[in-house]
Amino acid sequence: MSVVDQVPETRQPASQPQQQREAHKVLQGKKALITGGSRGIGRATVLALAEAGADVAINYQRCGDAAEDVCRAARKLEVHANLFQADIAREADAQRMVNAILDEFGGIDILVNNAGITRDKTFLKMGRALWDEVLEVNLTGTFNVTRAILPGMVERGWGRVINLASIVGQTGNFGQINYAVSKGGLIAFTMTLAREVARRGVTVNAVAPGFIDTDMTKGMPEAALAAVQAMTPMGRLGRPDEIAAAVLFLATPQASYITGQVLPVNGGMYM
Ligand code: NAI
Repeated sequence: MSVVDQVPETRQPASQPQQQREAHKVLQGKKALITGGSRGIGRATVLALAEAGADVAINYQRCGDAAEDVCRAARKLEVHANLFQADIAREADAQRMVNAILDEFGGIDILVNNAGITRDKTFLKMGRALWDEVLEVNLTGTFNVTRAILPGMVERGWGRVINLASIVGQTGNFGQINYAVSKGGLIAFTMTLAREVARRGVTVNAVAPGFIDTDMTKGMPEAALAAVQAMTPMGRLGRPDEIAAAVLFLATPQASYITGQVLPVNGGMYM
């Protein structure tokens, strides 16, 4: 039994202030799957959706301890939360994970395609391995998970698909052709799928973060980070919770007439 399994899940009868708080939980009764949920933007999104009352299925690939930590934090918000390990780039693995989630949760209403990687090199130095690796996770991984989840949303006539794109998919970026292409591809994926399922009660949108303070940007050289801050009107990197807030908004019933859109959250870096 994992440490997470030992966290008690029993719900006590709600006190009156608690009942009032719960009345404001816009995602009460909804079930969400967040890929790459163990850290960074994924972790912040898990907690934002759980705070809003959604039950959360948290996918992770390798960081078991970090994943258990976010799962425990979600359960403290009195929602059903569990961990599902899978490499989303592998179709059979993604399908196995979705089967396990559907068995346990019964269905997924909100899918946040967050998992993503960078493998930076300039085009002249980039071999096929780095090109393939990034496209397989960022683009094909999103295809794999969405392909397995979407039929249930269409059947129930309600769903939210939210993809983590990037400013880099809108502007290009030196040394990131594989990543930029994957994120530009996700924007096209978002618009196309939005058109296909708009009449089935499912919205499909993307959030395009600027540069956010996570493990992904911690690997950037000091000088590059300083240049990014200088090019950002707000003069700072974004925080994961600032991205999670945008994802949460798109997941709510209030965002019901928004589909096929890319919501930039970038401190004014690209406008
Ligand atoms: P991160 O590197 O901290 O987290 C990425 C997560 O994806 C990790 O939990 C990792 O285990 C998971 N992941 C990677 N490959 C996977 C696979 N094959 N299967 C399952 N999970 C996998 O990155 P961060 O910054 O939190 O990024 C989250 C998303 O936001 C990514 O899609 C990223 O491209 C995007 N983004 C991030 C920006 C930033 O400045 N940090 C800017 C723009 C977009």
